[in-house]
Amino acid sequence: MRSELQWNKPGAALLLAAVALVCGRAQAREVSVSSPDGKLTVIVSDERGAPNYRVQYAGKEIMPAARLGLALREGPELGEGFSIAATRTSDKDETWEQPWGERRLVRDHHRELLVELAHGGKTPRKFALRLRVFDDGLGFRYEVPRQRGVEQVEITDERTEFRFADSDKVRAWWIPARYWRSYEALYQKTSLRDAVHVETPFTLRLANGVHLALHEAALTNYASMTLNQRRDGVFKADLTPWSDGIKVKLRAPFNTPWRTVQVAPDAAGLLNSDLTLNLNEPNKLGDVSWVKPGKYVGIWWAMHLWQKTWASGDKHGATTAEVKRYMDFAAKHGFSGVLAEGWNVGWDGDWPENGELFKFSQPYPDFDMAAVAAYGRSKGVKLIGHHETSGAVSHYASQMGAAYDYARASNIDTIKTGYVADNERIKRIDETGQVRYEWHDGQFMAGEYLRSVTEAAKRHIAIDSHEPIKDTGLRRTYPNWISREGARGQEYNAWGYPPNPPEHTAILPFTRMLSGPFDYTPGIFNLEPNGKGHENRVRSTLAKELSLYVVLYSPVQMAADLIENYEARPDAFQFIADVPTDWEQSRALAGEVGEYVVMARQQRGARDWYLGALSNERARDVQFKLDFLDPQRRYQAQIYRDGANADWESAPYDMVIEQREVRAGEAMALHLAAGGGAAIRFKALD
Ligand code: NOJ
Repeated sequence: MRSELQWNKPGAALLLAAVALVCGRAQAREVSVSSPDGKLTVIVSDERGAPNYRVQYAGKEIMPAARLGLALREGPELGEGFSIAATRTSDKDETWEQPWGERRLVRDHHRELLVELAHGGKTPRKFALRLRVFDDGLGFRYEVPRQRGVEQVEITDERTEFRFADSDKVRAWWIPARYWRSYEALYQKTSLRDAVHVETPFTLRLANGVHLALHEAALTNYASMTLNQRRDGVFKADLTPWSDGIKVKLRAPFNTPWRTVQVAPDAAGLLNSDLTLNLNEPNKLGDVSWVKPGKYVGIWWAMHLWQKTWASGDKHGATTAEVKRYMDFAAKHGFSGVLAEGWNVGWDGDWPENGELFKFSQPYPDFDMAAVAAYGRSKGVKLIGHHETSGAVSHYASQMGAAYDYARASNIDTIKTGYVADNERIKRIDETGQVRYEWHDGQFMAGEYLRSVTEAAKRHIAIDSHEPIKDTGLRRTYPNWISREGARGQEYNAWGYPPNPPEHTAILPFTRMLSGPFDYTPGIFNLEPNGKGHENRVRSTLAKELSLYVVLYSPVQMAADLIENYEARPDAFQFIADVPTDWEQSRALAGEVGEYVVMARQQRGARDWYLGALSNERARDVQFKLDFLDPQRRYQAQIYRDGANADWESAPYDMVIEQREVRAGEAMALHLAAGGGAAIRFKALD
């Protein structure tokens, strides 16, 4: 017997349950749920002896049947031999407000199906699959109740699979899983068949042009999910293990993170989705008006260029005098923060190997914290704290409370944390005092990153984690998790290995950025900082550096270059001084993964719009309509664009700055150079 349950047939779920009861469990059955617009459908079935799901979009199957389940150390797995026992449906259409973000109002419109799965046998077992289908994608998670034999649980494997047909015709953009440098690999573009073991967000383009991105949402007390292609087109969840090989240790009842599939008719559609945020829990911190988006400058790029040092000595960067100089510059140009790396004791010697030498409440003698805090207060600028841990997290945890108290007392409300260590070399001291080495993205570290965020929240401090665990939308629940790294940033352009190719920033919006804000640190004006002709340089035009402030979203954005380089180009710097970091709404207008992107955003609480467009290695002309502007107003477009001869390699500074009046609905064309871009402020005139 086969039973088709459509969402929009009222009572069908109950009927299915009744049929199942009458017929016993021998019969296979299936149940489906569709998105509010009816285009996306997920079908769950138990007909192959284990629960599985398949996905249809616009009437076509886009993901054939793939397995579901969890393997536990304690007895038989949750999956194999289970059948659908009951289902429940519900739907939701609510709009919620973000304290800061790419858009103020987010609509959560989905249909939900809860599938209860049960196994008879000698030890009856049950668990549930909760599935939510939105117009822009789907999410599902496992919910495991406490039951006999499932109390203190060790998950040895997650059986979830994501399956695709015609893998040679599907394009994929990915970075390798568990890469040693905290997701900082160059993106690969291959056929799906050649993607082996990948991180998420994992972005695909099907042969018919439909774009998908696989990821997860709300990763709290669980291991991060990577995807391993076991058989052609079948990507299996591969959870990052603890040092003892167990994937996850939990006490039932528990829910897993959501496994997500974004679905869009084209590449730009992926960028206009709120799926990940919608699958996270609402804000748990209450009033978070103390979390302040803003722009910052700082003592940072000089170290990456080896002009200054984190360590003490003649070239020490974070001196009281130098921080005050940056505070003067910040105050003059309306920046809210100044980052000072290397302010605290612990950097002398081989700091990546010596995390246990760091002291998070003890400045170097030439850095007077009280004087800096007082100076900042007088200028209306805050110091951004910096805590590099070098992966010695137990050491960091032992100082954390005192360090955050000290920061708070020093007028610091944002701390950039760092976990520089090879990916599997996070140093944990266990309960018995033994040293264990963990991955950056296993269950242990999911907890440690969150410990930092929740401890900081108690002191009204925001956290910007570098070498982080990937973002899964937890900023909704903990809005003081303000930004993070988690991809190759600007720093690679200083030291190479090699520098980021122009296509990197054309891939990021469609991959890494789908997970959340990225502290990329844009805005380098001296594009050949190591000298003319040096390989380690920024492979962008000046206009493209400006475009990054709009394209690569982060509520805290750095103007990363040295003060003198900004003072040399006040005309271009004006855009950085003007551009906000918090948005009323955001709209991706056009783009192709790894090729180009055009992004428009409206300033939060204001009428102005900003636009960023950028290209990969290829020069191109892009056209778009200004249909996002308010038709009732006139705007002055302040345009920073590549000049006719601009080229990242031969003429990166060829930039035209021009102004003209525009109106809603007009078409606009822009020429983007090779490695080029454009940045526009649409200033409302009335
Ligand atoms: C790596 C971070 O990405 C970078 O921003 C920082 O300067 C260094 N670690 C030192 O903490």
